[in-house]
Amino acid sequence: IYEDASTASAEVAEEIATLIRQRNKEDKHTVLGLATGSTPTEVYAELVRLHKEEGLTFKNVITFNLDEYYPLDPHSLQSYVRFMNEHLFNHIDIPEDQVHIPDGTLDEKEVPEYCRKYEQKIREAGGIDIQLLGIGRTGHIGFNEPGSRPNSRTRMITLDRITRKDAASDFFGEEYVPRRAITMGVGTIMDSDRIILMAWGEGKAPIIREAVEGNIREQVPATYLQEHENASVILDEAAAEKLT
Ligand code: F6R
Repeated sequence: IYEDASTASAEVAEEIATLIRQRNKEDKHTVLGLATGSTPTEVYAELVRLHKEEGLTFKNVITFNLDEYYPLDPHSLQSYVRFMNEHLFNHIDIPEDQVHIPDGTLDEKEVPEYCRKYEQKIREAGGIDIQLLGIGRTGHIGFNEPGSRPNSRTRMITLDRITRKDAASDFFGEEYVPRRAITMGVGTIMDSDRIILMAWGEGKAPIIREAVEGNIREQVPATYLQEHENASVILDEAAAEKLT
């Protein structure tokens, strides 16, 4: 629990940077699993600063984003492709072909095969070293909504009503929020060596309490993280206020 989101985010960015530097020295790749939304923005800003001011290079970094709305054009305002470019990729030296974000433009019948290949690419990269996560008010991680199984893999899902409500302002109305998304599965996330879930603000306090202290159950997919050997929950004081 940190005093505020900025201090916590700087700490998370430092952990990521430390791994990248170490792997660079060994001439090895670092594989990052990345989240979008309001939660990780300060981590990305700090990584950009470390690149610009302290020479941190991302030439050996491979990234896999958790999710993307479906259907959605990558150029649209709400696209996670656009989000990642604006917050991170446009400002660092990562080679384009080392960036992976689920494709919201596919024909529906192409999706299952695409998802299998996404999983295969993660495996071929050697698996995810550090996975960043936010948490939705439904308890989703990625877009694994309530009902998601612990062994689920990358797939198309239907977004929860609450998630679509929370995205309504981004889409200028709930009716414009896509009903579906492509997301890494719970199993995909759980295969990561290290998981860092972050949450800021009092709005997240009730679901953080459930995720951290509640019984492990599919109604709150974030509770599955309790069984991961190397997962941390990083909070500001407001998000932690309902923990006992
Ligand atoms: C985003 C993602 C979601 C968000 C969650 C919290 O890639 O996978 O699980 O992390 O919905 O969103 P924010 O950070 O906007 O509160």
